[in-house]
Amino acid sequence: MAVKTTVSSKDIDEAFLQLKDVVKETPLQKDHYLSLKYDCDVYLKREDLQWVRSFKLRGAYNAIIALNENDRQNGITCASAGNHAQGVAYTANKLNLNAVIFMPVTTPLQKINQVKFFGGSNAEVVLTGDTFDDCLKEALTYTQDNKMNFIDPFNNIYTIAGQGTLAKEILKQSKEDNIQFDYLFAAIGGGGLISGIGTYFKEHSPQTSIIGVEPAGASSMYASVVLENQIVTLPEIDKFVDGASVAKVGEITYDIAKNVVDDYIQVHEGAVCSTILDMYSKQAIIAEPAGALSVSALEQYRSEIKGKTVVCVVSGGNNDINRMKEIEERSLLFEEMKHYFILNFPQRPGALREFVNDVLGPKDDITKFEYLKKSSQNTGTVIIGIQLNNHQDLDNLKSNVNEFDPSNIYINENKMLYSLLI
Ligand SMILES: Cc1ncc(COP(=O)(O)O)c(C=O)c1O
Repeated sequence: MAVKTTVSSKDIDEAFLQLKDVVKETPLQKDHYLSLKYDCDVYLKREDLQWVRSFKLRGAYNAIIALNENDRQNGITCASAGNHAQGVAYTANKLNLNAVIFMPVTTPLQKINQVKFFGGSNAEVVLTGDTFDDCLKEALTYTQDNKMNFIDPFNNIYTIAGQGTLAKEILKQSKEDNIQFDYLFAAIGGGGLISGIGTYFKEHSPQTSIIGVEPAGASSMYASVVLENQIVTLPEIDKFVDGASVAKVGEITYDIAKNVVDDYIQVHEGAVCSTILDMYSKQAIIAEPAGALSVSALEQYRSEIKGKTVVCVVSGGNNDINRMKEIEERSLLFEEMKHYFILNFPQRPGALREFVNDVLGPKDDITKFEYLKKSSQNTGTVIIGIQLNNHQDLDNLKSNVNEFDPSNIYINENKMLYSLLI
């Protein structure tokens, strides 16, 4: 029998039936703040409110329930740094199956604890490998040695069909309120979510343009479909938007995305941080970086969406509170509000006061001041962080700093030094 390598909207209908008593029907909400901001009707599909705080339960459950009884009893494995692991753990507990979940040793404690919480005594967590690829290798070897079943996070037709149930739910909810969407925005990591959603929309709402959103530092679907016309492995990725930072998309998802995604957007990691903070303060929504991508993308589509009806999938809300400081820092850097310099600083009383008076504007603030090296001479090397009150004051600030120390280094434009700071 030929192996099935694509997904139809009928597969998604079937997955919907499998999942109807398992997943929560998450709200589809009109967002007044975003609607006003972009002069259009913006709806949010709140998968951050799903049982495991992301849509990943849909695909994981559907892929596991599709195994035959024998395979299921042999147990399941997965390799994941986050949301897929939670979906697999939740399912193992619900179906009383044995699951071994491989996570990189660098996984934040919050995510490890959530996996243990959802999996209970059914899930064993193995922390291994510094990188996801090392972790994956170990998981695959273990799966083979123990004759278990590996649940792929995106390159599996049942996973994709499960994620597609989100689209069926959106269309069911929008029909009740007589809403038709012109645009749908959703994040892309390995491509399972967009493949499932796109497949369903193309058949049941073909007038909706499907926009896939990737982090600028890991746009592997865009590179594969648009730039290279073949699957490529990105040599280097920025892992900040965990979940959507994938170096290589799947073969199945690549083939589907080629047909169902109308456009791709790359969003700067700093812009995602600003969106997370905005969603938190204006809408009281806790979105994780991958979960905020779709909303962040609206800025680049501002003129196209004016007067239109738009839905953004808020795909996850597992944001580790310990990351908030970094999120705030990245946002300020992106908004050009925070600036770092290395400069020679006179080691004498009153020097700092002079710096404040001569270099800073009246509402600017020093957020960091640290001697990197004090010398026996009368100057020392200092790293200094300055938060502007208005980003338009940057030219003025730079010219004042240049006057203070012409040999200063502006760190924001130096990728290597900058990465040491945040
Ligand atoms: C919150 C969130 N959004 C989006 C994605 C991307 O999904 P996919 O890998 O199916 O493209 C992920 C993947 O883990 C995720 O966790």
